[in-house]
Amino acid sequence: MEHLVSMKDLTVEEIMLILDRAAIFKRLGFRELPGTYTVCNLFFEPSTRTKTSFEMAERKIGAQIIPFETSFSSTLKGETLYDTIRTLEAIGLDALVIRHPSDGFYEELIDRTNVAIINAGDGSGQHPTQSLLDLFTIQEEFGSFEGLKVLIAGDISHSRVARSNAEALQKLGAEVTFLCPPEWAGEFESVDNWDEVIETSDVVMLLRVQHERHNTEMAYTKAAYHEQYGLTVERAGRMKSEAIIMHPAPVNRDVEIADCLIESPQSRIFKQVENGVYIRAAVLELILKGRK
Ligand code: CP
Repeated sequence: MEHLVSMKDLTVEEIMLILDRAAIFKRLGFRELPGTYTVCNLFFEPSTRTKTSFEMAERKIGAQIIPFETSFSSTLKGETLYDTIRTLEAIGLDALVIRHPSDGFYEELIDRTNVAIINAGDGSGQHPTQSLLDLFTIQEEFGSFEGLKVLIAGDISHSRVARSNAEALQKLGAEVTFLCPPEWAGEFESVDNWDEVIETSDVVMLLRVQHERHNTEMAYTKAAYHEQYGLTVERAGRMKSEAIIMHPAPVNRDVEIADCLIESPQSRIFKQVENGVYIRAAVLELILKGRK
């Protein structure tokens, strides 16, 4: 694997290889890379989890991190993303972890550069390492994906997590249902009533309402959205006892999920964050060791 930009590109075998490697890191500890590799993290959109856990993973496997501050880079003087990437390639970077607001920013890059590109989230497009850590968390819980009922509820049309997870989970044999206001469904078929799905779902994955990507005034107050589309305490009480709650975070408390459910026994939200380090280490190792 030269780059990781979309879950569409991964075969089931490649997904399982990454999950297996992450499980080994988790069980036996991280392994240092066999050579010297340099990595830069370029975040053109805010991030807490993804940026920090990539950096933690890079340190754990012994990659050298070259700092890059987007707010002090020559992109502010108008330098294009392509020229920025070619410059970092010329300096000698092996891999670039990039988050960017443009959907598919990587399309103009991957065939024109020799540096490995790892997509850390592109606009409303894809978030492959979030999807892989979600899969890892689900696999830890249920052992396999075949026949699992996964409900993804929230701001679907703006969600790169929904897009990546729909691709991956369906490829692995899970049944994915989307729940959202009809006008937020994007290209997906969706339901808008919890009664149809809450008692049968194995995984209830909430998505953040992405206020920053809505061009128009929200049609719902926070309380109205929570009441109609959020995971309320009453709805959580109707979940199967072995079902789990997930959320990629950051969370709007009491909007897509009730505040008190975030650290409830069925929640795996902080487990997802923890698993992100193992997954990102596995992805980096696979890509860096494969460098020619
Ligand atoms: N889940 C996720 O991508 O979080 P950050 O935006 O904090 O990286």
